[in-house]
Amino acid sequence: MTPSHNLSRRSFVRASAAAGLAAGLPLLCPRRALAESVSINSAGENDPNAATGNVTPETTTLRGLAAKKGLLLGTAFSNGAFRKDPTYGEVIAREFNCLVAENIMKLNAIQHVRGEFDFTAADAMMAFAAKHAMQVRAVPLVWHDALPPWAKDQTFPRQEALDILRDHIFAMMGHFRGRVCAWDVLNEGLSDKGPGLREEGPWFHSIGTDYVEKIYHMAHEADPEARLFYNDFDMDGMSKKADRCYVWIKDLLARGVPIHGIGLQYHVRVDQHPSPTEVAQNIRRFNDLGLAVHITELDVWLPTQVTAEHLQQQAEIFRHVFETALAASNCPAVLLWGFTDRYSWVPGNTGGTFDHALIYDRDYRPKPAYAAIAAALG
Ligand code: G3I
Repeated sequence: MTPSHNLSRRSFVRASAAAGLAAGLPLLCPRRALAESVSINSAGENDPNAATGNVTPETTTLRGLAAKKGLLLGTAFSNGAFRKDPTYGEVIAREFNCLVAENIMKLNAIQHVRGEFDFTAADAMMAFAAKHAMQVRAVPLVWHDALPPWAKDQTFPRQEALDILRDHIFAMMGHFRGRVCAWDVLNEGLSDKGPGLREEGPWFHSIGTDYVEKIYHMAHEADPEARLFYNDFDMDGMSKKADRCYVWIKDLLARGVPIHGIGLQYHVRVDQHPSPTEVAQNIRRFNDLGLAVHITELDVWLPTQVTAEHLQQQAEIFRHVFETALAASNCPAVLLWGFTDRYSWVPGNTGGTFDHALIYDRDYRPKPAYAAIAAALG
């Protein structure tokens, strides 16, 4: 393990700041720049961001509180919601300092037609992020899902599949170079059923098990400065899948595969979630491998028939996640998979069984989880 793999919160923030400077963005470093701008603003002095009016200095917003802790606090960004609902963007700009595209940076959005790269929607999101001095996580370069028609249910000759992935990775990382603080190179590559890699999707079958190391080497070649992550679900605590991930990633690192961090998606049910202790243990063991950990898609599902007690339990889970991240030396980012129940993937994907997974209700009223996060950050 080289020291460069050890991405503590401070070094991650430094690397991110460097990336931001390269892109000419106004403000990308939460621990130093955001925290400094908060104190400068409070004193009413020379605010480097005053011209844009983009920074929220108040410590009454989650963004303001996160700045003081040097934490990247993010949300998934729904392009559809952004375009039709002005409140959506207003709340994001006020409460968050980091964005991740919920859908518009996936293969089916970027390359709906093979070989034709459409960055229009993603560029609009990047412009919004830059305008509001927010960082961006980019997901995912390679996934078995969100495939365009030309790749869905296909098996390609090995070299053709490698060429497709190489072209996509180079196009994406070239286009967004210096503007992305972390890339999920591979999303959900591990099997859910037991040992080994996930076999769904075209890449495993077309290329073979070495597709994983190939794509990380490609990404590193495309942008040697980029921070490269592996992202997955059901491995937030010390689950069997998390154990398998740990062993697998350790082996990839030992073989020189450039991986810098792990994304824990953290989609959990209110009645089925890991304890803070085991999440801390899991984050720590990745730290021992020299890896950063980001919480990447946090939401906490409640039954559709929600009670006040459910909302309190949900708040406690959000609070624990933030406390755990802040206590870890290698966890500089917590991103929610959306922030308002008005736009959440959960009801539509759980057959209507679960809902209310986020920190604002459908009318943008903060739920107890909002106050719980504020308390954790305070
Ligand atoms: O935008 C089209 C719309 O035009 C069309 O009429 C409609 C009909 O199906 O589909 C719409 O697109 C849907 C899109 O969400 C936007 O709502 C897609 O069908 C649907 O598949 C897509 O689902 C997304 C899913 O990933 C697959 O890409 C969810 O929004 C998104 O929340 C979900 O996110 C994933 C992460 O990427 C990885 N981790 C798990 C997480 C939740 O499944």
